[in-house]
Amino acid sequence: MNILILGSGGREHAFAYKLSQSKKINQLFVAPGNAGTDKIATNININPTNFNDVKNVVLTNEIDMVVVGPEAPLVEGVHDFFLADEELKSIPVIGPKKDGALLEGSKDFSKQFMEKHNIPTARYKSFTKDNLTEGFKFLETLNAPYVLKADGLAAGKGVLILNSLEEAKKELKEMLTNQKFGDASSTVVIEEFLDGIELSVFVLTDGKSYKILPSAKDYKRIGEGDTGLNTGGMGAISPVPFANNDFLSKVEERIVKPTVDGLQKDGIDYRGFIFIGLMNVNGNPFVIEYNVRMGDPETEVVLPRIESDLLDLFEGVAHQNLAEKSFNVTNKTTTTVMLVSGGYPEAYEKGKEISGLENVEGSLVFHAGTKLENNKVVTSGGRVMAITSFGDSIEEALATSYKNIDKISFDKMNYRRDIGFDLK
Ligand code: AMP
Ligand code: GLY
Repeated sequence: MNILILGSGGREHAFAYKLSQSKKINQLFVAPGNAGTDKIATNININPTNFNDVKNVVLTNEIDMVVVGPEAPLVEGVHDFFLADEELKSIPVIGPKKDGALLEGSKDFSKQFMEKHNIPTARYKSFTKDNLTEGFKFLETLNAPYVLKADGLAAGKGVLILNSLEEAKKELKEMLTNQKFGDASSTVVIEEFLDGIELSVFVLTDGKSYKILPSAKDYKRIGEGDTGLNTGGMGAISPVPFANNDFLSKVEERIVKPTVDGLQKDGIDYRGFIFIGLMNVNGNPFVIEYNVRMGDPETEVVLPRIESDLLDLFEGVAHQNLAEKSFNVTNKTTTTVMLVSGGYPEAYEKGKEISGLENVEGSLVFHAGTKLENNKVVTSGGRVMAITSFGDSIEEALATSYKNIDKISFDKMNYRRDIGFDLK
């Protein structure tokens, strides 16, 4: 089969790495890809949200399946575009249509969905500028800290957690009346703060049945000890030690089953990944958010642990016979550490030459913000590459990642030295 992966990050490099192991692969394309995917697939430089360009690539290269990495093409309707096009409609897309993508595209929609299907999540209400005063009143019924979420996509920045009521009211007003996050904050979800430890569970579904993939924990803050600004993710580990069988069976019964059933009941034919961001509150799982894609850098620890053919699972999604498929997961732990550009997640420089990659031994290097310039690998983004290793323990896997990181360098390279610190 010829497969096209849309996207350009570490997640997409990990997809390409895993799919390239499949015996069923003929040609693998990544659009637009990066310097890492260039080594194992053919990069095609288009923007994945330009659906006419995607169509051209698919027809020219006789693509048999499209795997969508990031949320933007899904939320903008790439799957619907395929179904509406005579030449594309028989080509499976791994990723939901617009109706399913709303689980990530609208926090208000996802909260309503969870409420309707009795899925445990923080108590909430949604507000617009027309009922700002009621928003203030709702805040007064909650205890600090206060959680405000812009309804729409806000590049991962739309969630504010505030310690004082006064601040929360001021920010709510900023979001609703001054469009702090543009249109994304014309509706704001206010919710109860959940006190616990976070993890993510990944589900692949064909709309009827599902597979639960390995769990992972991501480290989102830029600073060690989980301090400083939020990033896309600075590292991850899988599996999550506290997500034992007892906890995971609660996740399956209380969250995964009602989510997949709820989508079906609501007439949403969902074929793709569901990334469930969870809070473990005293042993009980609560949903913080849904994403309609895999996580990055979580994919860089989840996929390497899957020993079977990922394309076989994707075919199960495409042909709605996922229930007949099975897959194996290694017992080994994987860890990944993200190397980032100095200054990220604020302003940073690009175009720095990356050296030492040829000396890496025993780790997988997943490129994120990299590109080839005169045959040299240079930085082209904030998150530059993820160094993934296997081990019998978190410590062992991390030791390998960090040993290899010592061999890699670029100007102003930064990374967290404490991934997994809270789990040891
Ligand atoms: P989200 O974009 O919804 O994942 O929110 C971003 C981050 O805010 C999450 O990863 C959590 O760390 C935090 N967060 C979101 N909602 C809550 C909540 N209700 N209680 C505590 N922390 C939250
Ligand atoms: N690492 C978090 C995310 O992909 O949303």
